Amino acid sequence: MNKLASRLVTLLVSLCMAGSIATAQTSPSHAVDAEGHQWWQHAVFYEIYPRSFADSNNDGVGDLRGITSKLDYLKDLGVDAIWISPCFPSPQVDFGYDVSDYENIDPMYGTLEDFDVLASEAKKRDIHIIFDFVVNHTSDQHKWFLDSKSSRTSAHRDWYIWRDGKGPGEPPNNWVSLFGGPAWKFDPVTNQYYYHFFYAEQPDLNWRNPAVKDAMFDVTRWWYKRGVAGFRLDAVETLFEDPGLHDNPILRPGKNAYGDAIEENKYNTKLPELHDVLRGLRKVADESNAVLIGETWTADVAELNQYYGEGNNELQLPMDFLFTMVNKLSPAEFRKQIAAVDGASGWPTFVISNHDIARSYDRYGDGQHNDQIAKLMAALYLTLRGTPIMYYGEEIGMKTTPPTRREDVKDPIGRTGWPEEKGRDGERTPMQWDSSENAGFSRGTPWLPVPATYKTHNVAEESKDPNSVLEFYKEVLKLRHTNRALLDGNYTPLNESDANVLCYLRVYKDQGVVVALNMSDAPQKVSLELKGKGFFSAKSLLATGKSAAKGDEVSLEPYGVFIGEVTK
Ligand code: GLC
Repeated sequence: MNKLASRLVTLLVSLCMAGSIATAQTSPSHAVDAEGHQWWQHAVFYEIYPRSFADSNNDGVGDLRGITSKLDYLKDLGVDAIWISPCFPSPQVDFGYDVSDYENIDPMYGTLEDFDVLASEAKKRDIHIIFDFVVNHTSDQHKWFLDSKSSRTSAHRDWYIWRDGKGPGEPPNNWVSLFGGPAWKFDPVTNQYYYHFFYAEQPDLNWRNPAVKDAMFDVTRWWYKRGVAGFRLDAVETLFEDPGLHDNPILRPGKNAYGDAIEENKYNTKLPELHDVLRGLRKVADESNAVLIGETWTADVAELNQYYGEGNNELQLPMDFLFTMVNKLSPAEFRKQIAAVDGASGWPTFVISNHDIARSYDRYGDGQHNDQIAKLMAALYLTLRGTPIMYYGEEIGMKTTPPTRREDVKDPIGRTGWPEEKGRDGERTPMQWDSSENAGFSRGTPWLPVPATYKTHNVAEESKDPNSVLEFYKEVLKLRHTNRALLDGNYTPLNESDANVLCYLRVYKDQGVVVALNMSDAPQKVSLELKGKGFFSAKSLLATGKSAAKGDEVSLEPYGVFIGEVTK
C-alpha cells in the first residue's frame, strides 16, 4: 500500500447467467430483471486510467479511441461497465483530477465526437460507461475559479472558499492539504486565502452556495443525456468544511511525509451536509437509471451505511475500502470484513486495486507464488455477493512499478513526499497488451515507463496460456455471469475457525456454490460440513491445479482455489 492510501486510512479511522440460467441474468441494457435486480448489481465494473490504457495516436498517452479499440477485449473478458478516470479538459496537475471544463474532453484524450463513438460502440456491446466526477474541487484554471479570484465582488466569488488570514502571512486556520503544505493559498490580487484540500491548483468548491449545486447537478444531466450511465464520485468526504473554521486537532507529535503536522481531519471531512448533496445527485441519477459509485474511505460499516443513505437514497455503490485494505492473506481478516459489508444496508462493492493504491498483485503476492495468489484474489472478490470493480491490468497480473529516482516521478506528491511517499506512478503504468516494444501500448514514448514484466505478463501471451492469470479471470467472470448463486446467493461463511482456508457458501433458492481459498503456502484439506447447511457434496466448477473435492472434503494446493456446485 502506498503512503497516500495509508494516510487516508489513518485519517479516516481517526475520524470517527448464460448457459443454464441465461434468462435469469440482467442484461445491462435493461433496468431491472424479473426479480428486481438493478443492472449495476450484476455488472462487473472495470476502471480505466485513460492515460495508460491504449494510445491510438502514438503520442505516449492513452486516449478515448484507444479505449474504443479495446472494447472487444473488455467484452470478451467479461466486463459490463467501464469507469473512466477523468478525461475532461485539465491542466493535468493531478492527471485529470483538476478539471477545467466538465463538459468537454481533453484534446489529449480526443474530442466529444470520439466520446460519442465510444459510447455508441460500447452500447452495441452492452457495456456501460461511467465517468469520474470530481465534485470537491475544480482546477484553478476553470473559468469559475478564474472569475472567482478576479475580485471580491465577482459573480463566482462565493463559488469557492475565500477567507481572510488570521493576521499578516497567517492562514485562516491550521488545516493542511492531503497533498502537503497548508490547505490555504494566499492570493495577493484580493488579499484573501482560498481553501484547497488537495493541491493548490485544485480549489475547493463552496457547496453551501446553491448556484454551485445547480451547476454541478447540471453537469451530470448533461453527461447522462450524452450516454453516460453513472459516475464515480471523487473525494466525496471532503465536500464541506466547518464554517467556523475551527483548527483541526493534532493526532500525535511528529510530521508526515510532507513535513506537516499529523492532523485529525475533524473539521474539514465527513461533515453531515455532504449527504444532502448525495441525495440530490441520486435524485438526478434516478431520472436516468444511472448508478453512483463513491470513493468512500469509511472507518466502519456503520459509516458506510450512511453513504447508502436511508432507504438507499444516496450512493448505490459506496466502495468498501476496509475490504481493500485487509492487505494480507488472512482468512480471519477477510471473514471479518466480508461479514461486515455483507450485513451493510446496501449492496456491497468490492475493490482490490485502483489508481491510488499499490496493485493487488504485489500487495498480496509473496514474490514466489504471485500468479497463483492473483488467481486466488480474483476468485475471492469475484465470487462474493456484491459488485466488483476491477482495475485495468489486474487481470494480467500487472505489478506496481514505482519510480526508483525522484527525478523520474510524475505524480507531484511523489516529488514532495520522496522517499517516504513515492507517489502513485507505480500503479498507473501502461497497460501491457503484448510483448512488442512498449508492450503494444504506444509506438511513441509512453508517459510512464513500461514495467519489465510486460514480456511475460501481457494480454497476447496470456491469451495463449490456459494457466495464465488472464484466462483464470475470464473463467471466473464467465462463471459469475452465468451462475445465479454467485450473482444473487446469500453469503454464509464456512469453517470459520480455519486459519488457512477462507471458505463460504453462496445460496440462491435451491442452488448453491461453495468457494474454498487456500491462503497459505502449504496444501490444505477442509471438510465443508455441508450437511448442516442442507447440502451433500461439492462438484467442481472451477479449480486451480489439482485442487478438488471428494464428497464434502476439499483438497487445496498451496494458494489453491476450489469453486464447486453443491448438491442436495
Ligand atoms: C481522489 C482520486 C485521486 C485524486 C484526488 C483528488 O482521491 O482518486 O486520484 O488525486 O481524489 O482529486
